[in-house]
Amino acid sequence: MDKLEVWGGKKLKGKVRLSGSKNAVLPIMAASLLTDEECHIENVPRLLDVHTMVKILEVLGKRVYFQEDSLTIKTRSNKSFVAPYKLVRTMRASFCVLGPLLAKRKRAKVSLPGGCVIGIRPVDLHMKGLEELGANIRISGGYCYASSSGLLGKEMFLGSPFGPSVLGTANIMMASTLASGETIIDFAACEPEVVDLAKVLKKMGADIQGEGTPQITVRGKKKLSGFKHRVIPDRIEAGTFIVFAIATGGSLVIEDISVSFLGAVIDALKNMGQHVQIKNGSICVKRHRKINPANITTLAFPGFPTDLQAQFMVLLSQAEGISTVTEKVYPDRFMHVPELNRMGAKINRFGSVAVVEGSRKFSHAEVMASDLRASACLVAAGLCASGKTIIHRLYHLDRGYENFISKLEQLGAQVRRGRE
Ligand code: UD1
Repeated sequence: MDKLEVWGGKKLKGKVRLSGSKNAVLPIMAASLLTDEECHIENVPRLLDVHTMVKILEVLGKRVYFQEDSLTIKTRSNKSFVAPYKLVRTMRASFCVLGPLLAKRKRAKVSLPGGCVIGIRPVDLHMKGLEELGANIRISGGYCYASSSGLLGKEMFLGSPFGPSVLGTANIMMASTLASGETIIDFAACEPEVVDLAKVLKKMGADIQGEGTPQITVRGKKKLSGFKHRVIPDRIEAGTFIVFAIATGGSLVIEDISVSFLGAVIDALKNMGQHVQIKNGSICVKRHRKINPANITTLAFPGFPTDLQAQFMVLLSQAEGISTVTEKVYPDRFMHVPELNRMGAKINRFGSVAVVEGSRKFSHAEVMASDLRASACLVAAGLCASGKTIIHRLYHLDRGYENFISKLEQLGAQVRRGRE
C-alpha cells in the first residue's frame, strides 16, 4: 500500500488541465452493454475505478482496448450476464451495469455493492425503477437477480429522502432506451454527468428529452448502435484544485470547463470573499487574504456538491469566524472530521451539521484517508500545514484523481509517493 507525504507552506499557483470526469465515464462505459456494435470513448481518465469497470465489461463479454486516453469497446460474446462480487464491491458505480444488461440481454445477476464509509448508500431506487419497467427483481446471496421478457415504459417517481439518485437515474434511463413505449422519470438527477450520458445514448439512437431537468422522458427503441464520445471534464477535480490554491494562498486558472458545472462552488467562493474571475471560458481564482465564514449546504446538482464538502472544510477552518456545513445528501459523510481535528481544525458535528471554527492553523500529522474526497481534504490540510504530513491509504486518491502527484507538483507543491 502507498502513502503520500506532503510538505506544507508552498503557495500553489498556475494552470491545471482537467481530466475526464470519473462520474461521467463509468456509466458511459456501462452504456456500451446496450449494443453489440463498437463504442469509442475519449478523454478517459486512467483511474482505478475505470480499470475496475474495464474488468467488469470484460467479464460481461466485451473486449476493451485502452490507448492513451481513449477506450474502444468491442463485443466478444453477449451471453454473460453476471457482474461478480469481487469487482462490484470495490466500486458502487459498477451497479449501473444492471439496467443495460437487463434491457439488452433480458437478464442480469449483479452483486449488491454493500456498505460504504460515507453512509448507508442503498440501491433500492435502482431496483424499484426496474420493477416499474416490469422487471422481476429478486435478492439472494448478496446478488440482485433481474429478468424480463421485455421492459415496458412507465412514468415513475425516482426520489429518495435525500434527493434524486445520480446512478439510479443513469440506470433507469439506460434500461428504458430499449423498453417498449414511453418512460418518464420524475425527480431525475440533473447532474452534468447524467446529461453527458444522455448525449451518448442519443448518439446511439435513443430518443431522450428533458435531461438536465427533474423530468426525463425516454421513448424506447428496438436497437441501439455504437457511439463515439468525448467525456466532459471533471468538475470535482476542478473544485478540489481550486481549494488547494485558495487554501495555500495561491491562485489557479482552469480552462475548458463549463462555468455552469461549478455555479454553486463559485458562489460559495465569492461569499467567502475570494477572487473569482470568469473570462473566455476560463475560471481564475486567487486567494483574498481574509476568508469570510460561510454556511454551506450540500444538495443535488445544481446545489453545492457533496463531493467537495470535505475539501471546503479546510477553507472554512481558515475563515475569520464560525461556519456551518450541512450535509443533505449523505448525512453521515463526516469521516474526515476527526482527522482534520488531529491536524489542528476545530470542527464539531451535530448530526448532519458540522460547526467549523475559523482562524485555525494546520499542523503536520500522520492521518488516515477514509474515502476518496476525504483524502483530498487531508491533502489540502497538509499543503497548508507546517512540516511533513503523511497520508496513509493513498489508493483512495488513485480511485478518482488522475496524475494527481504530477499535477500538484506542476503547481509548486512538494509531495512524494512512498511505500508503507
Ligand atoms: C453519485 C456519485 C458520487 C456522489 C453522489 C451524490 C458516481 C459514480 N458517484 O453516487 O460521487 O457523491 O452521486 O452526488 O457518479 N439513495 C437511496 N436509494 C438509492 C440510491 C440513492 O436512498 O437507491 C440515496 C443515497 O443514500 C444518497 C442520495 O440518495 O443519500 C444520493 O445518492 P446517489 O445520487 O444515488 O449517489 P450515487 O449515484 O451512488
